Amino acid sequence: MTNIHAIILAAGKGTRMNSSKPKVLQILADNTLLGHVLKQAKLVSQQIHVVYGFGGNQVKQTINDDSINWVEQVEQLGTGHAVQQATPHIEEDSVSLILYGDVPLIQQTTLEQLIDASKTSGIALLSVVLEDPTGYGRIIRNNETIQAIVEQKDANVEQLKVCEVNTGIMAVQTALLKKYLSGLDANNAQGELYLTDIIESAVNDGKTVASVITIDESEVAGVNDKVQLAELERIYQQQKSDQYMQQGLSLKDPSRFDCRGDLSFGQDCEIDFNTLIEGVVTLGNNTTIAPNCCIKNSKIGDHVTILANSVIEDAVIGNGASIGPFARVRPQADIGENAKVGNFVEVKKSIIGKGSKISHLSYVGDATVGADVNIGAGVITCNYDGVNKHQTIIGDGAFIGSDSQLVAPVTIGKNATIGAGSTITASAPEDQLTLSRSKQRVFPSWNRPVKK
Ligand code: UD1
Ligand code: CA
Repeated sequence: MTNIHAIILAAGKGTRMNSSKPKVLQILADNTLLGHVLKQAKLVSQQIHVVYGFGGNQVKQTINDDSINWVEQVEQLGTGHAVQQATPHIEEDSVSLILYGDVPLIQQTTLEQLIDASKTSGIALLSVVLEDPTGYGRIIRNNETIQAIVEQKDANVEQLKVCEVNTGIMAVQTALLKKYLSGLDANNAQGELYLTDIIESAVNDGKTVASVITIDESEVAGVNDKVQLAELERIYQQQKSDQYMQQGLSLKDPSRFDCRGDLSFGQDCEIDFNTLIEGVVTLGNNTTIAPNCCIKNSKIGDHVTILANSVIEDAVIGNGASIGPFARVRPQADIGENAKVGNFVEVKKSIIGKGSKISHLSYVGDATVGADVNIGAGVITCNYDGVNKHQTIIGDGAFIGSDSQLVAPVTIGKNATIGAGSTITASAPEDQLTLSRSKQRVFPSWNRPVKK
């Protein structure tokens, strides 16, 4: 098997981003542009070489991937020069696949076609036909046969009329690539070493240059400014929605669904508008998500109902549970089967047992709540003493009256009942009523003050 080496050009600054970050670290769907390219490159290659320049340390630190061979291009002397920095690290009997750190939506199948074409012809380029080819290198053909790529700045009037352009993405047998790169010169309008000149060298060498022509402009679109970044984000989101709907997910409005990560789901799940998925999220079967929910890195079971305006992060939600509306389920919350986390309820780092209900206006943090517990409206676990966090443990079947405070560390026994409005500072026994509020009194001789 031939080894495939991906060479990703990523040396540019990206001045038009007006950012302290290098261009390839700009974010699309919660991943860097370079991260997207790396993901695709890994699907088709055995080794990845990234040619970096501007902001090198920042790029390396952010990507933080030891499997990459980082190659520095100190001065940017052209795309040919950039590739020359990587080729000494690559064995001759392999195929080199040239990619760009700012072209994030390139598709795996296209790359596979290109690699296949290069195996027979020696050299294959990816082109696209544009209505307005201004700025791009033109593909010059004689009848069908590719003769050369001519850059905009070097092209004559006839050549400028050509609408088939070079995307820059190529697959080349490495031995040939090395040979042609060594013959490059900067004899052109920009005084650079053009990678594109290897096409003419191959033709002069008697090779037939193969081409793959993509009809999808977005997969070869580069990102130079924030407008283009936002355009590609929309295209990416549309692709994700299409993919998920084809796999059976119901989206009420795919144009108002964003996934910045990976969503997996069972059958008959339905997502209403304005949902944001981040990180890795899984849904079981028959789970529904109402409008305006944000869900990040969470595992959600079957028959779960997530009502409007809920935010769920790093949590596990059991089968049949009901969340929201306006619930905030924070990291390390584990909500049991058929449990309910209702209106304006916040749960953090807590286990909520099967069938337990926290229906209204509560904060439950650092707690272990048993099964079939009823936590009344406005109950607060006072988990923080200003320095340390403490645990609250509530046994199965307990009933916590509304507006009670459970001052942790504290344990509420099984089937205990806490009277409404209590401040519980010590353990409450099983099966009994505990309350801490003062007895109700009437003051018959008291009068309201009058204004002087
Ligand atoms: C290049 C192609 C052109 C093609 C176009 C597609 C050449 C000579 N021309 O032109 O045919 O139509 O891309 O977008 O290849 N880079 C480096 N180091 C360098 C120079 C460039 O890493 O020394 C990187 C840039 O960061 C960029 C990419 O290579 O990501 C393309 O470079 P750029 O200068 O933008 O090439 P174009 O003039 O657009
Ligand atoms: Ca460019």
